[in-house]
Amino acid sequence: MKETISIRPLKSSDKSELAKLANNKKIWDNLRDKIPFPYTEKDAEFFINLTQQETPQQNFAIAYKGKICGVIGLTIQKDVYRKSAEIGYFIGEPYWGKGIATKAVALITEYGFKELDLNRIYTGVFEYNIASMKVLEKNGFKKEGVFKNAVVKNNIVCDEHRFYKLKNN
Ligand SMILES: CC(C)(COP(=O)(O)OP(=O)(O)OC[C@H]1O[C@@H](n2cnc3c(N)ncnc32)[C@H](O)[C@@H]1OP(=O)(O)O)[C@@H](O)C(=O)NCCC(=O)NCCS
Repeated sequence: MKETISIRPLKSSDKSELAKLANNKKIWDNLRDKIPFPYTEKDAEFFINLTQQETPQQNFAIAYKGKICGVIGLTIQKDVYRKSAEIGYFIGEPYWGKGIATKAVALITEYGFKELDLNRIYTGVFEYNIASMKVLEKNGFKKEGVFKNAVVKNNIVCDEHRFYKLKNN
């Protein structure tokens, strides 16, 4: 039987559902400006194509009861930081509050440490994104600092809360 919440590679057929889920200002408000908004099917197609060229796989669809409900990824860093990866994710609004992000972070963290042999997974969360901070804390991520006024989003300056998890504790 299928797990209720799983991660799997993105498929070309995810395009229209991914575009529908990602085209949401409430999601974009918590992400970097390089993520397009409005988010079109062309944007989804471009992103899916990119993820299909990854070796090893770094970005995944999050599936809930067999349907795509979001995306989660690890960006492996370069040079002396090559054993570190930044984690990023979003869940489509109809699926919020069901524990999906919490489980997806657990799954990709395990993948990152076991399959990618990472030492460290980290991310920065905008100061107003309490839900994402909870998701990370429920997965054993620790806050390592607050980068004051590091972010400008929607022309508003805010702090970035940095979280990390290590392979060995
Ligand atoms: C943040 C996000 C990933 C959470 O996804 P989700 O599947 O709804 O998260 P979960 O259900 O696993 O858990 C969310 C937790 O935050 C809590 N929460 C949700 N909204 C909250 C809010 N406004 N204030 C405080 N807590 C909140 C929930 O109650 C839950 O905690 P609990 O289990 O202790 O009750 C989702 O809202 C999202 O995609 N947001 C936009 C994109 C984004 O923020 N990405 C992360 C960038 S760092």
